[in-house]
Amino acid sequence: MATETPMISMQHVDKTLGGRKVLDDMSIDVARGEALVIVGGSGVGKSVTLKHIIGLMQPDRGRIVIDGQDIAELRTVELNNFRRKFGMSFQEGALFDSMSVFENIAFPLRRHTKYTEQQIRERVDECLDLVHLPGVSSKRPSELSGGMRRRVGFARAISLKPEILLFDEPTTGLDPVISDVIAELIVEMDRTLNTTTVTITHDMKVAFKIADRVAMLYKGRIVEEGTPEVFQQSTNPIVQQFIEGRAEGPLTE
Ligand SMILES: Nc1ncnc2c1ncn2[C@@H]1O[C@H](COP(=O)(O)OP(=O)(O)O)[C@@H](O)[C@H]1O
Ligand SMILES: [Mg+2]
Repeated sequence: MATETPMISMQHVDKTLGGRKVLDDMSIDVARGEALVIVGGSGVGKSVTLKHIIGLMQPDRGRIVIDGQDIAELRTVELNNFRRKFGMSFQEGALFDSMSVFENIAFPLRRHTKYTEQQIRERVDECLDLVHLPGVSSKRPSELSGGMRRRVGFARAISLKPEILLFDEPTTGLDPVISDVIAELIVEMDRTLNTTTVTITHDMKVAFKIADRVAMLYKGRIVEEGTPEVFQQSTNPIVQQFIEGRAEGPLTE
């Protein structure tokens, strides 16, 4: 089998925060083009993991290698350029409420490209089309539904044509039907844009829909991983309790 450099490689990462070892010898690789979903309970270190991948947090020990490049070796200026590889959609979309939808999506383009006003308009329209949300450019985020705001967040995340898309709890706070629509959109974007994606969620239905591979984070490291089919059949009691959402079991002991 051909061995290709993984797009994302976390190697033996330790991270202590607030006196607690949040990541403890955590390792995971994500192949180019793969859709990885990391699941786990709240406070288990999912967001901290994403922050390491994007270089917002540095490991106490271990390495983060993106597309063959060890992030720790990048100087600040290089790291800023490097971040353009990533499109990140945070929980709740984190949109600027004082700006129109258009200005929210144009923001990264104005900041990181030399696009003309015309090119910016075209790119914003393209991105809104990709998330199936045409015709809302002039609205304020507060005028849109939760699901629509999430889409605007996605449109902004893809505006700079990233190679890697990161989604932190993309469906939290949405009803099950809208969650499903958003999950489908992530699958579609991943395919159309040919990206490598890492999604973080505690919603197993969303996880199974999006994932090529599901990994479960528990006590600072990955305790189980596999295709949705394999993951679902895991005999690990921690995984079983999480999938079934049961109150009793090792997770709550
Ligand atoms: N900047 C920080 N300073 C101190 N503690 C933090 C910081 N960021 C996260 N933590 C702690 O690390 C743990 C994991 O957080 P997080 O990754 O956000 O959890 P989740 O899996 O819910 O996304 C939590 O106990 C949280 O309080
Ligand atoms: Mg989180």
